[in-house]
Amino acid sequence: MANVKTHTFDAVIVGAGGAGLMAALYASRNANVAVLSKLYPTRSHTGAAQGGVGAALGNMEEDHWEWHAFDTVKGSDYLADQDAVDILCQDAIDVVIELEHMGLPFDRFPNGRISQRRFGGHTNNETKKPVMRACHAADRTGHMILQTLYQQCIKNKVNFFDEFHVVDLIRVGDTIRGVVAIEIATGEFHVFHSKAVMFATGGWGRCWQVTSNAHSLTGDGAAICLRRGIPLEDMEFFQFHPTGIFKLGILITEGVRGEGGVLLNSQGERFMEKYAPTIKDLASRDVVSRAIYLEVKAGRGINGKNYVHLDITPETVNHYFEKDGEKRRIDREYIEAKLPDIADFTRTYLGVDPVKDPMPVQPTAHYAMGGIPTDVEGRVVVDAANSVLPGLYAAGEAACVSVHGANRLGTNSLTDLVVFGRRAGKHMAEYCHTAELLPLPDDAAGEIMAEFERIRNNEGSAKMFDVRNQMQTAMTEGVSVFRTEETVSTALEELKKLRAEYKNVAIQDKGKIFNSDLLETWELGCLLELAEVTAVSALARTESRGGHARDDFPERDDDNWLKHTLCHKVGPGEYQLDYKPVTLGRYEPKPRVY
Ligand code: FUM
Repeated sequence: MANVKTHTFDAVIVGAGGAGLMAALYASRNANVAVLSKLYPTRSHTGAAQGGVGAALGNMEEDHWEWHAFDTVKGSDYLADQDAVDILCQDAIDVVIELEHMGLPFDRFPNGRISQRRFGGHTNNETKKPVMRACHAADRTGHMILQTLYQQCIKNKVNFFDEFHVVDLIRVGDTIRGVVAIEIATGEFHVFHSKAVMFATGGWGRCWQVTSNAHSLTGDGAAICLRRGIPLEDMEFFQFHPTGIFKLGILITEGVRGEGGVLLNSQGERFMEKYAPTIKDLASRDVVSRAIYLEVKAGRGINGKNYVHLDITPETVNHYFEKDGEKRRIDREYIEAKLPDIADFTRTYLGVDPVKDPMPVQPTAHYAMGGIPTDVEGRVVVDAANSVLPGLYAAGEAACVSVHGANRLGTNSLTDLVVFGRRAGKHMAEYCHTAELLPLPDDAAGEIMAEFERIRNNEGSAKMFDVRNQMQTAMTEGVSVFRTEETVSTALEELKKLRAEYKNVAIQDKGKIFNSDLLETWELGCLLELAEVTAVSALARTESRGGHARDDFPERDDDNWLKHTLCHKVGPGEYQLDYKPVTLGRYEPKPRVY
């Protein structure tokens, strides 16, 4: 392979967010591991997770992992696999304590224990009232997890390849041989030859116009797997977080409502009382996002626009905390201590001081419940019989275990990262002990290098950012909080045109060094494919469940649709759907009542 440098490791982990770092920490204890990230690791998107990591520690009030499990299953609209949910909620307790012992600076209750707060859908299963389960470090919990794990990885001498953008998986039949990456600084291609590969590359919120996701969230790992013959699971379920900053989409943590904040429409009504009379503003995200959409549609958006207010001002909010043995009403000091980042964001981006004024918010594309199908050890499975593809792993948002089913509960993303990142890392190291390093095929990087040369030298008339904008518009109009056969079909028609238009994209920068024009164009190809898979999966599912709300099929239909979707790519723009059963357990599907 001319001009391609080859590196050899037991295992390669792609992505340095919470899942990738947790896996690296565990795998590197018993195997020679490389972590490849297109970013500097501590810039990974885990750092944007604000409100907390869910674990039933019961530090301030009664809680049990079984309650956490029930809430997760109910929140998932019964699509989550209950064996995986049990593991998530049991392991969560131990892994949060482990993070604390690694040095993660959690907030503390006056009794010295890790501070926990209320979050959407987390309840005392007996009283049905919200329970404090979100363990948090101010509103920077993801940031602190990322820093803590990165420091631990450095201490454990994990091999990092920062700003190495992985663009292909080397798969030969049913064996894994490594990955191909571009070194962003030089534009050179590198092959990483390994026994095992893990994708922990995060989500693809950039398919939509308004998103809480960073610019880098382009679904590379999921798209690479799809192209290499791995189906994607439950792609129709994409979560819209109810409270993104109006127009910008930047997350305003659910922790605001956990600390007593309320949603208000243009008439000053606390409208969640209508939609979820018991749990109100702390209903699960699909419910709250739909409620905001319906309020706006009914003309009760603020100033006639498509946003509502999120109010945490001490005058409005009836919320108390304990200080020096006294019960006190929340005040500026409390808000600045518990929610410093969101206070900063709203002041910086909106000129709104949340202690004095309500914040303008709208639903924002936030989280992929679906993704690369795995078992509970992080092993990628490739069909409805859950057949494992040996040596290939996925964890975190890129993966679908499935613990989130049709709708994820707030805080369970961080729990998922650390619980399943740890399990996958351990399993991968064991696998590397027995597996052989199989030879690289001839010209392992040839196909992807040719695609990059095509993009670099293409002389078409289309612009990358025009195609991207059109894709984001199509997805926002057609495959959003609500969708119908008509809106999804229209989006699919548009995506088909954009697929052709993509072949016509020409870039201006023909160079090699830090060529973001080239890399973003390749990323756009990933987004376009994931958008199509999302729309194809959404069109087929003729029911409403969790984050998939079909206006033309408003009911959940367990008789026909209590099953996971698997979408295979069978040719350019051609997809085939298959389905696999949901693993049930203690909880029989029931109508969701809030
Ligand atoms: O609202 C939030 O802080 C987001 C947390 C999450 O997505 O789990």
